[in-house]
Amino acid sequence: MNRKYRKTVIAGNWKMNMLPSEVKPYADTLRALAGKTKHCEVVICAPFVMLPQLIKALRDCRIAVGAQNVSDKDSGAYTGEVSANQLRDLGVKYVIIGHSERRSYFGETDEMVRAKVTAAIGAGLIPIICVGETLEQREMGVTKDLISMQVKLALSAVPPEKMRRVIFAYEPVWAIGTGKTASAEEAGEVCSHIRAIIRSLYGARIARAVTIQYGGSMNKDNAAQLLSMPDIDGGLIGGASLDPEHFAAIIEAANQ
Ligand code: PGA
Repeated sequence: MNRKYRKTVIAGNWKMNMLPSEVKPYADTLRALAGKTKHCEVVICAPFVMLPQLIKALRDCRIAVGAQNVSDKDSGAYTGEVSANQLRDLGVKYVIIGHSERRSYFGETDEMVRAKVTAAIGAGLIPIICVGETLEQREMGVTKDLISMQVKLALSAVPPEKMRRVIFAYEPVWAIGTGKTASAEEAGEVCSHIRAIIRSLYGARIARAVTIQYGGSMNKDNAAQLLSMPDIDGGLIGGASLDPEHFAAIIEAANQ
């Protein structure tokens, strides 16, 4: 982390978990434990159907709400899609884009990621853009090349003045939901690489202000070590965000 230049952001990704009836008790617990967090921004990214309730339950506290996906279209005849403007109007602040589960199970391409990032920024949402390699790609030694391509394509339509409202999450696919975490050094190295690519595209001043998270089996026991790396500015947390007490312990580690 480097709080002098950029925000630390701890985001929970509920994925397709939790029920609407569980939102209020969860939010009440998290609010009591972490609602006054000062040194980092806390976000919960919930399924669409729970967003209105979550926003209501977290009103007047410092915890923000995010979505897990967004359409690349502005409005119109796109049955089943949800637009960035609809999310923004509801009070959503963040949106996860290009999560590896969307890339692998729902065929999301880098081109779709680029279009969604453009739509999100256009509506005033902060995209959390996920990039990461599979185990096979890591073993082939192409991690950095692949990440460079993902980052460059995602940013290809983002003007410099919007870069302050972009977050990256480095999520090695082999570490997601597996209990296997990248070591702090491995994760830190790729996050530094992401910053170097941003620097090559936008210059040093913009690059040092971009928040880069790590995601992939982050938990209360490994969070402090991962966050001690200079280029890891937060976490995108799946499994461990489903329990508000566990999630609050990670927030606590980021607040140190
Ligand atoms: P995990 O998921 O923390 O359960 O590994 C992280 C993510 O997919 O964002």
